[in-house]
Amino acid sequence: MLRSLLLSFPKNTSVFNQSEDDLVIDSPLMKLNLQQLSPGFVEVMRILGNGGATEDALSEVVLKSDGCSVLPRFYYYLQQFINCGLICYTLQAEGLPLATLVPFTDAHQLQWTQVAREQKYILSRFAYCRKDNSQLVLESPLSHAQITLADWRGAALLSELAQPHNCSTLNKIPGISADAAQMFLSLLLSTKMLSEVEEDGKISEEENQTLAQWEFHDLLFHSRSRSSRHGSKIGKSYRFLGKIKPLPAIKPKMSPEVIDLYKPDLEQLKQTDASLTLVLEQRNSVRIHGQEAIAEEQLGEFLYRAARVREIIPREYMEVSDRPYPGGGACYELELYLAINICANIPSGLYHYCPQDHQLEKISGSNKHTEALLANAQQANGAKCLPQILIIFAARFSRVSWAYESIAYSLILKHVGVLYQTMYLVATAMELAPCALGTGNADLLAEATGCDYYTESSVGEFIIGSKTDFQ
Ligand SMILES: Cc1cc2nc3c(=O)[nH]c(=O)nc-3n(C[C@H](O)[C@H](O)[C@H](O)COP(=O)(O)O)c2cc1C
Repeated sequence: MLRSLLLSFPKNTSVFNQSEDDLVIDSPLMKLNLQQLSPGFVEVMRILGNGGATEDALSEVVLKSDGCSVLPRFYYYLQQFINCGLICYTLQAEGLPLATLVPFTDAHQLQWTQVAREQKYILSRFAYCRKDNSQLVLESPLSHAQITLADWRGAALLSELAQPHNCSTLNKIPGISADAAQMFLSLLLSTKMLSEVEEDGKISEEENQTLAQWEFHDLLFHSRSRSSRHGSKIGKSYRFLGKIKPLPAIKPKMSPEVIDLYKPDLEQLKQTDASLTLVLEQRNSVRIHGQEAIAEEQLGEFLYRAARVREIIPREYMEVSDRPYPGGGACYELELYLAINICANIPSGLYHYCPQDHQLEKISGSNKHTEALLANAQQANGAKCLPQILIIFAARFSRVSWAYESIAYSLILKHVGVLYQTMYLVATAMELAPCALGTGNADLLAEATGCDYYTESSVGEFIIGSKTDFQ
């Protein structure tokens, strides 16, 4: 069965001559320089780079052109290409390509699993289709490969597979024989896109308690932001360099109405602060705030110690900055919005923190948006009354995604964690009441600030206030 599949290099691979018997194979995964190749071999490389052929047809080319003594070398090379993830497998039905398995990495080795004719299968709940370069592709975070679907027949088969099917119940689709259906199911099973349906109707994937606890979006995000289960570059690639201008390190002022915040004396704090160990050991989440409102000086000191800009640093590609908490590539995408319920000497309302000038920029007074933001925060921490101050972290996403590929969003969430802990420690040292929140409404903040959801929206929330006397 496997021998009927067409073998080829991935689509975006180029095969070109260095000299008559030297070839370069340039694929997204690697670049190979093959030297002193026999004519049959050169021909095989060209076929692999140009639509492909079955293993038998390729070996026939070598046999006819170079003789049987070269065949072991051909099989050796073919195995090396397979090991490197350089070989795609295309299944044909009625002489037309139906589906192609494209390996993502060298970690992929096709372990062909032939489905039994009577056995029923169902599409994995982790498998999904999307458009990629004018093709429909089937992917799954369980898989090290992608399946490209050549035409509507593949989509029709997948649609059927939302329900349990075996080879014989799948062949009602025009142009799909029971043999083609068996091959298609085998290709999907071999790439972990299918799950077996047991005789009692149970789906084996759902019986796996570890997998059952993964939600689709969590596993997809996990696999796409680590290397090995996708074909994209990972890390700093500056893919928009020369195409889109990066955002400046500091967000332009959001309002002419600003409040200058108190700046603490850091030299004095270095002498008087509690020790790191004491702060670490005393840190905890405090969800109840005191009768007395947090003071304006306390808010100023808290923001200055945790989140101000220490320096703007011009770099070759983009402007970065230096702040008290660490951040990938020093991009610092997190903007802080403060929904102030009560704070001595600062009117209630919504503010943006300018970390460079250490100022609050007033966006609005107290209104239905700030009330809803504060009410959501109260619900998230189960407190009896509204928090004194809710700090919402919003990410200017493209500060990170302009420079980083595949990991931008995961970096942003790591930055939220980093800033949470910095705020916890500063608040503990200052004897304030801090608590991180795990949920928030990004649309609500977008409405309250007028920011575009896709340009900048909320990714984390933190509440802060004065402590009660008995804490
Ligand atoms: C990412 C994150 C999300 C959290 N979300 C919430 C939340 O939504 N509501 C809440 O009351 N506490 C929340 N917390 C606080 C945790 O419940 C708290 O850290 C945990 O119970 C341990 O207690 P401790 O912080 O006092 O050591 C969160 C903490 C973190 C780090």
